[in-house]
Amino acid sequence: MLPRLDLAAVWLAATASVASAQTYRRFGTCPSLGCVIPPDQQDFLPGQEFDIRFEVHAPKNGSEAFNNGVPDEKFTATISKDGGRPRSIADFFKIRSEPSLEKWTFSWFEDLFAEDAKTPSVVNVASKAYRRVALYEPGTYTVTLNYFSGKKTTAEWTVRPLATKKKAKNVIFFIGDGMTTNMITAARLLAHKTVNGKYQTLLSLDDFPVLGHQMTHSIDTFITDSANSASALYTGHKSTVNALGVYADTSPDPQDDPKVETIVEMLFRIWGSAWGAVSTAFIADATPIALSGHSRLRSQYGVLIDQTLNGVQNYSWTKTDGPDAYFGGGADQFIAGPGSYQGKDYYAEFAKKGYSVSLNKTSLLSAPNDKKALGIFCKNNLPVWIDRHIFPENLEINNDPTGAAKPAKDLPGLKEMTLKAVDILHNRGGKEGFFLMSEAASIDKQMHALDYDRALGDLLEMDDTIRATIEKLKKLRILDDTLIVVSADHGHGFDVFGSSDTKYAEAQEDERSKRNAIGVYQNSGLSQYTEPKPGVSYGTGANFPMNWDPRYVLAAGVGAAPDRREDFGIGATPRAPTTSRGGEAYVNDKDRPNGFVVNGTLPTSESQGVHSLTDVPVYARGPCQETFGGTYSNIDVFYKIANCLGLAHGRNVTEGAGKRHGKGKGKGRD
Ligand SMILES: *[C@@H]1O[C@H](CO)[C@@H](O)[C@H](O)[C@H]1NC(C)=O
Ligand SMILES: *[C@@H]1O[C@H](CO)[C@@H](O)[C@H](O)[C@H]1NC(C)=O
Ligand SMILES: *[C@@H]1O[C@H](CO)[C@@H](O)[C@H](O)[C@H]1NC(C)=O
Ligand SMILES: *[C@@H]1O[C@H](CO)[C@@H](O)[C@H](O)[C@H]1NC(C)=O
Ligand SMILES: *[C@@H]1O[C@H](CO)[C@@H](O)[C@H](O)[C@H]1NC(C)=O
Repeated sequence: MLPRLDLAAVWLAATASVASAQTYRRFGTCPSLGCVIPPDQQDFLPGQEFDIRFEVHAPKNGSEAFNNGVPDEKFTATISKDGGRPRSIADFFKIRSEPSLEKWTFSWFEDLFAEDAKTPSVVNVASKAYRRVALYEPGTYTVTLNYFSGKKTTAEWTVRPLATKKKAKNVIFFIGDGMTTNMITAARLLAHKTVNGKYQTLLSLDDFPVLGHQMTHSIDTFITDSANSASALYTGHKSTVNALGVYADTSPDPQDDPKVETIVEMLFRIWGSAWGAVSTAFIADATPIALSGHSRLRSQYGVLIDQTLNGVQNYSWTKTDGPDAYFGGGADQFIAGPGSYQGKDYYAEFAKKGYSVSLNKTSLLSAPNDKKALGIFCKNNLPVWIDRHIFPENLEINNDPTGAAKPAKDLPGLKEMTLKAVDILHNRGGKEGFFLMSEAASIDKQMHALDYDRALGDLLEMDDTIRATIEKLKKLRILDDTLIVVSADHGHGFDVFGSSDTKYAEAQEDERSKRNAIGVYQNSGLSQYTEPKPGVSYGTGANFPMNWDPRYVLAAGVGAAPDRREDFGIGATPRAPTTSRGGEAYVNDKDRPNGFVVNGTLPTSESQGVHSLTDVPVYARGPCQETFGGTYSNIDVFYKIANCLGLAHGRNVTEGAGKRHGKGKGKGRD
């Protein structure tokens, strides 16, 4: 049989950054021929809904060829609790009839030589999926898959004993996408003045009482992307690059992978609370969409927006009434056309379900606080803070959220969107409170582009937003009821190592001399960004630089980059460090023409910087803050928040919640 789908090719096509993943495996979470998904060593919240899939692989050729490529179709599986009697899956979960057997074929490359030679290894699969189950009792569960008469794969699952009592009414989770401690340090230096080594003002983050560290690894690779790391933060389950709200399987359909329930789905099912997401990315991007989306492929943007509004199609699955506040960029998935699910007009679909729809800042600010609200302000990612405030001429591009050929200029920033979301969620959540995720997306996006100033500008915007949010919560008298967590989903290998004299660098003819403009140690000087720029006032207020292009600029870089030119100064236009020729990235000679070439460390196909391994910080304040100190996995961020929200319900409370809110769940909070 010919492979119906070349999984490796799908992975390569899905994101450019994955093209360099040179450690190929048949299936990352399954080193044997029998796969239990969720795999070994997974943790669960009591009552959290999830799907189970078993796969039996029969490699037809390649180094693992087995049984002529004929998979065992009569495999059996059992589950036992705390060493007790094993019971069949259907019996244990009271599933009335065994799911039907599914079969498919996939192929993969064993290494780069096989890929160069175009000789994929072909695997035939037999599989069964048990949908929408939950484990209610804390303890250790052993799942055993028996296949090929005598082979066994076991997976140990731990259901954590966590709280059913709510300690925080509200949770606001700020995610600085790609944000590291090094970036926070650099942003502080840009915007806050020191006198003889003493900061005169600080970041709002610096006032948080508790700081921890989370490890961001994927389930099957040590470098993560934003889809599966967001998923880990929202579900307590790690996953695979490009997957969100699911464990990846090997089937060709990206919609049938085993799902896990997310924090907002649980919060809605159990308490009927309100929820919202705000992002400076297009709203179907991984970090916001992982709250409500379930797919093996994060690039299924249209489907994921439909899931957010209408729930998962084709499978019985827990769902919310849709977000109560949903603000960001990404009109491409809302305008009727090729970017939207089934070509439908999603502004109209949201409006039909009672949403106010805002397409600019003025309209957002006047949207009613008692209705669900959608706000989409431009076509793709929102222009960054620096372009909105320092280089507004960069907004003169066709970017209108209706799709009309005109710019979008009446744009909210992260602060306006977040504060409006708090008003709406506070109003609609009522006594059941709310969960809000607010993402500064372009810290990551601009770090990818090696545009350090634009990344740090958006980090400062997030810090300013956090400060304003705390003030707002005080005014609403809910600060003490609200857990605020600020973290990242992964990092980039960024740091500052000195300063550079732009005037001297420009005067040098050859590239090696230009590098002598960099001052290190005693010649690194102090931040000139906090000194007024002669004759210019940006009017951006305290907590932002007074001069974005001083003579002495921060000399900074990242550990992973393509070939590029550096001069360390701010660019008047967003940065494009490379140009592409025949699928390879080369130095863009138009970028930083006065700089010097720095040769890259990445595969020549990478046009941008990539994510790095570093742990990222977790700042917390409010109820349960004390649980956030120390070093832990990204999934623990979920368990800490879930524990604080009392989500560990050892029973199915869907019916209870239905009663509390009348039959259209959630009505009670209007
Ligand atoms: C496996 O078989 C397929 C044809 O079914 C072939 O294209 C591929 O090159 C073979 N792979 C190896 C490693 O022999
Ligand atoms: C919870 O209850 C709902 C409604 O009765 C049902 O559809 C769902 O399957 C149940 N979930 C579990 C995990 O039993
Ligand atoms: C649901 O199933 C139908 C029929 O098989 C299919 O056309 C559709 O694409 C599926 N929807 C999704 C979101 O996968
Ligand atoms: C903002 O949106 C409203 C409602 O769609 C519209 O009437 C108004 O003209 C828009 N304002 C700007 C500045 O685009
Ligand atoms: C970058 O690499 C090229 C070869 O690919 C080499 O010619 C050049 O000297 C290198 N540049 C620097 C600054 O090291």
